[in-house]
Amino acid sequence: MSSPGSARIPQHVAIIMDGNGRWARQRGLPRLEGHRRGVEAVRTAMNAAREIGIRYITLYAFSVENWKRPADEVGGLMGLLEYYLRQELATFVRDGVRFRTIGRTDHMPAGVRQLLRETEAATRHFTAWHFILALNYGARSEVADAARAYAAAVAAGTEQLTDSSWEQFSRYLYTADLPDPDLIIRTSGETRLSNFLLLQGAYAEFVFTPVLWPDFGKADLQAAVDEYGRRERRYGLTAEQIKSGAQ
Ligand code: FPP
Repeated sequence: MSSPGSARIPQHVAIIMDGNGRWARQRGLPRLEGHRRGVEAVRTAMNAAREIGIRYITLYAFSVENWKRPADEVGGLMGLLEYYLRQELATFVRDGVRFRTIGRTDHMPAGVRQLLRETEAATRHFTAWHFILALNYGARSEVADAARAYAAAVAAGTEQLTDSSWEQFSRYLYTADLPDPDLIIRTSGETRLSNFLLLQGAYAEFVFTPVLWPDFGKADLQAAVDEYGRRERRYGLTAEQIKSGAQ
């Protein structure tokens, strides 16, 4: 967690990429074309994040609820994901970006799983930049998975029921070794969290922008970071305590 009052450049930015469908509809194009342009926006955001100095970026690419979309859209998204991973591996390695996922990725199609494994393995040793894709992700499923793993650890005697600290429990979340997001952005004018990082975002700042995801560029990311820099993060302290440097 960052210290109270210290905003400036967020260490970890998480983005709910929304508005691909509306972007396509406005142009009379199929929804998948919006997702295709959304992939381009992912590339732009990744480069912009490194230029700005954001070390961790997490993107909500596919939620546990997204399986309910029409089968051809789900299939199209999986195809785009495979295409993106194949294309991007060399770039991650060139730029020293560690790639990881959060979510129930064991339920993703076999071809995607294989590419995820390869990309994670090839970038495992990088430490400067971190790119996290939320795939088949839902915060409630994450808590249910963590609770089950925690209960199993208690049964095995590796955890004690007397310790109910957040620090201990959070080690069972998908994000165990990731810092909490400092800034969560949602595009397309919607102002919901949609089951994204509900616990990790407990102290995050939020920026909601009307820009549709395929149009989201470096200037939009910079504007969100600037807005974040103007916020005062208090973590329960008073403004006076922050001014006097109390932590
Ligand atoms: C929300 O727009 C977007 C998604 C559900 C999928 C996000 C996927 C991508 C950006 C492309 C694939 C990503 C990678 C990393 C390869 P929406 O379809 O809900 O838009 P709408 O609300 O306007 O209909």
